[in-house]
Amino acid sequence: MLVLGVESSCDETGVALYDSAQGLLADALYSQIAMHNNYGGVVPELASRDHIRRLLPLTRQVFEESGRTLADLDGIAFTQGPGLAGALLVGAGMARALAFALNIPAVGVHHLEGHMLSPLISDTPPEFPFVALLVSGGHTQLMLVSGVGRYTLLGETLDDAAGEAFDKTAQLLGLGYPGGPALSKLAATGDATRFTLPRPMLNSGDFDFSFSGLKTAVLTLVRKVGLDHAADIAAAFQTAAVDVLVRKSLAACKKSGATRLVVAGGVGANTHLRAQLTAEGLRRGITVFYPRMEFCTDNGAMIAYAGAQRLAACLSGTHSQPDLSFAIKPRWELASLEAV
Ligand code: KG4
Ligand code: ZN
Repeated sequence: MLVLGVESSCDETGVALYDSAQGLLADALYSQIAMHNNYGGVVPELASRDHIRRLLPLTRQVFEESGRTLADLDGIAFTQGPGLAGALLVGAGMARALAFALNIPAVGVHHLEGHMLSPLISDTPPEFPFVALLVSGGHTQLMLVSGVGRYTLLGETLDDAAGEAFDKTAQLLGLGYPGGPALSKLAATGDATRFTLPRPMLNSGDFDFSFSGLKTAVLTLVRKVGLDHAADIAAAFQTAAVDVLVRKSLAACKKSGATRLVVAGGVGANTHLRAQLTAEGLRRGITVFYPRMEFCTDNGAMIAYAGAQRLAACLSGTHSQPDLSFAIKPRWELASLEAV
């Protein structure tokens, strides 16, 4: 089954072609980061307009690269939410219209399900069940995953998401948007032991997180010592944030008896997090799986993959007419999804 995946929930336009027999055939991405950088964050209206400009050229590109044509498509998957409403509507409108014209089904995919299943786009994918650590710009969650659509929330952030904490700390240190990669680069040159920052909720006994206090601690430290020690502050922040993520993820594996941990979302690209998780997991008999580096942040491949799983279930059932509504869900709970 050949599926076109379309991602347009935030500041990246992603399009990909996934074949359930042959795997990922082509994947194209346009990042709007440079455009939003001038404003210090994503400007929703500009994001929507840019998705309109990029979507069709990227779609043509994946067909050219894969040597397939529109006539080969069996279905289209698009990000239905959560995300920016206007940005989501661009992808949803394009996907539904194309599916209608081709008389094939279109399926709305949950953005976080896309992230969470992205490590499965691999020659050696993890088997179910596994614990998933979802660390993106908008979400930080620990989930027990026993199958596609079988998600139990174990814990989540009570305030800022991990990526948001990286971004806000980077802003305090005078780095651009999004700050995660820049902060991580700066941290690599710093001394992580010079300053000690708090590890919020480390001993809370549950799997919830809180990152806003850590960001405030950075602000207090910057006011006290200034930006001369920016690299050491970045290293202290990254160490503290990663420490909490690692310890809570491994505790969640222990509690649920899982021996596999999957990391997904933008912060999953953080090399310090990857190194710590792999090392600590190894000591406890837990294998850690990551998406390919380029599939940590938003992309069309993860939407095509998740959509292919859902379309396969849908087509083997009683699917008849293509659904013409292109309702989007800017807010959408991952744990509310139906199992396939
Ligand atoms: O998953 P994603 O692309 O978008 C959302 O769905 O939110 O994640 C983007 C987030 C941003 O906050 C960005 O700063 C963070 O992921 N990020 C990183 C790194 N690369 C991206 N954070 C820490 N270290 C990185 N290397
Ligand atoms: Zn994302």
